[in-house]
Amino acid sequence: MTTYVQKRDLVSILDLSKEEIEQILSLSTEMKNGCTPDLCKGDILASCFFEPSTRSRLSFESAMHRLGGSVIGFSDSATTSTAKGETLYDTMRIISSYADILVFRHPQDGAARVAADASDKPLINAGDGANQHPTQTLIDLFTIRHLFDTIDGLHIAIAGDLKYARTVHSLVKALSLYSVRLYFISPEMLQLPDQNANELRKKGLKFSFHECLTEILPKVDLLYMTRIQKERFLPLMPLTAPMVFSRAHLTKVKSGFRILHPLPRKDELDPSIDDTPHAAYFQQAANALPVRMAILASLLGRV
Ligand code: CP
Repeated sequence: MTTYVQKRDLVSILDLSKEEIEQILSLSTEMKNGCTPDLCKGDILASCFFEPSTRSRLSFESAMHRLGGSVIGFSDSATTSTAKGETLYDTMRIISSYADILVFRHPQDGAARVAADASDKPLINAGDGANQHPTQTLIDLFTIRHLFDTIDGLHIAIAGDLKYARTVHSLVKALSLYSVRLYFISPEMLQLPDQNANELRKKGLKFSFHECLTEILPKVDLLYMTRIQKERFLPLMPLTAPMVFSRAHLTKVKSGFRILHPLPRKDELDPSIDDTPHAAYFQQAANALPVRMAILASLLGRV
């Protein structure tokens, strides 16, 4: 008799329980220290990027190669039959018959759920519009744990474009599972959506909204900076960064203060801070590899 095992997708970070998040973080540490060779030998990853990417696409593809598997896919949807009018649903259904697991990015909010419904193999959301980017959140949590040895008890400022940054929306959901104090810093027009704030209220998390970065810096252990998501703006909205973190700000921070950024950055993080011990964003980007190896191996059931 064939036993049917339900496929696991990762569309929202809350598709994982806290226990499962912790398991992936532990496995990421093992991957960082050296994984079992050929853990995913014979597995094929379909890398389906309908929107530009450097880190997510290349780290997922590298992760699959490092696990002994192989990769098919595209980074320009104009080369697929969607350019002839094929629906997203049909496209993803077909691709899922050629691969064992799929990673998917798309400019539209909610597109990852449509793709996951179409796919009969596990589908990983690598960012859908302004909605979510759950694997970035696992990288963020892994990096925070590595930097501070804990997530609980931290005071965390999240700054920049809180309205459109999908990395923020997934991170806030995940942090609601921990005991943290959050400070949201943005211009009013780029504030955290009410839905995210209401979820935090329901969980009883302490948080506050601010427009000035400088006044919050002395209170926090960690700043999570984001870029203005100009590709999601209406043409008439202003595109300049509402706040810039420069070397001068470092005179106001606690010892042990760290800065994360999902990258790419524009002008919100001055490169003059890159060589200070506070800058942890390149380390965060490098952590994409072990964390995405852990995600692939977990969803494929190879661990
Ligand atoms: N952080 C992130 O998702 O980067 P890319 O857009 O380069 O994948």
